[in-house]
Amino acid sequence: DSLKPFNTLGLNQSCEQVISLSDKQALVNTCYELYHSDTAMVILGGGSNIVFTEDFAGKVVHIATKGIDVEHTDDGVLLKVEAGENWHELVKYCLEHNYYGIENLALIPGTVGAAPIQNIGAYGVEFASVCHSVEFVDLDAGEMYEISSADCLFGYRDSIFKQQLHGKALITAVALKLSTQWRPQLTYAPLSHLKPDEVTARDVFDLVCKVRSEKLPDPVEVGNVGSFFKNPIISTEQLATLQQTYPNIVFFPLNSEQVKLAAAWLIDQAGLKGHMVGGAAVHNKQALVIVNKGDATGHDICQLALSIIDKVEDDFNITLQPEPRIMAEFGEVVL
Ligand code: EPU
Repeated sequence: DSLKPFNTLGLNQSCEQVISLSDKQALVNTCYELYHSDTAMVILGGGSNIVFTEDFAGKVVHIATKGIDVEHTDDGVLLKVEAGENWHELVKYCLEHNYYGIENLALIPGTVGAAPIQNIGAYGVEFASVCHSVEFVDLDAGEMYEISSADCLFGYRDSIFKQQLHGKALITAVALKLSTQWRPQLTYAPLSHLKPDEVTARDVFDLVCKVRSEKLPDPVEVGNVGSFFKNPIISTEQLATLQQTYPNIVFFPLNSEQVKLAAAWLIDQAGLKGHMVGGAAVHNKQALVIVNKGDATGHDICQLALSIIDKVEDDFNITLQPEPRIMAEFGEVVL
């Protein structure tokens, strides 16, 4: 089967079979059986964080389970959402029902079940800030668990699902804790001019959609996986050293010892905007994004990524870490 419709980079690789499952029990059984078989398996949500570099010699399980269950609490709602729901559709659903807390996360591609894995975040809000718990199946043991937000060990683009549970958890549902009382989160620059006592949730949603669509290409039109690299976290000492050469370096303070650098600024400053390898290019409006110009292969994407890593290392002595999973013939590889 072709993987082209199942990855937002639009890479034209194939696999033995794509199995799309909307029944939860069938999903759990299929993943468990494949995990314990000799056949390689990839579990996919929206395919918005994956690079297929070769034809995959195994089966792809596409999560298509749906359902939103609402429980009213004293100060808001607890929303139990099945993994295959589309994230942006959920954001719109919450906006329409006046459940507040995720409007800043509008237009993020992908599924609800994928959200906890890399703790999706944008414009001052992270998945972690609304997460109540995550339901998953440990494919080793075949047991279903529900763990609290604290036990997910969320960090910047990080969680237990990328660490201890990497490759062995099938996330089946998430529970979100949302408020019925509107409290805007306007700390991030493009939102900071809005007036907290006048702005509505719809205004924030609309502005986030506008800002995102100005810089980030719509994967339906131009293949991409959003930010290709994480923003590097460095010490304040290393920042001070860099500032001697680059007084305009863009950073966000994290605490008294660490800052987060804008990887987009580093790549941009290195002169790489528009840089191409085969059909892959550094996006002209946001240097952290790699786009498929139409006929890019997964190898083009990875070669371009490696050349970005090299140049940024040469110029700034910083090693960028890729955000998406890289998949070769038999499974995940390191770039
Ligand atoms: N910048 C440049 N050149 C560019 C783009 C940006 O110099 O081409 C500089 C600007 O100074 C800008 C700064 O970099 O102020 C930061 O850029 P931006 O606001 O676009 O955010 P980002 O740090 O590049 C992160 C997330 C995005 C998220 C935005 C908004 C990561 C890896 N990326 O990007 O998430 O939407 O902040 O909160 O943390 C994603 O993960 O796929 C993603 C799109």
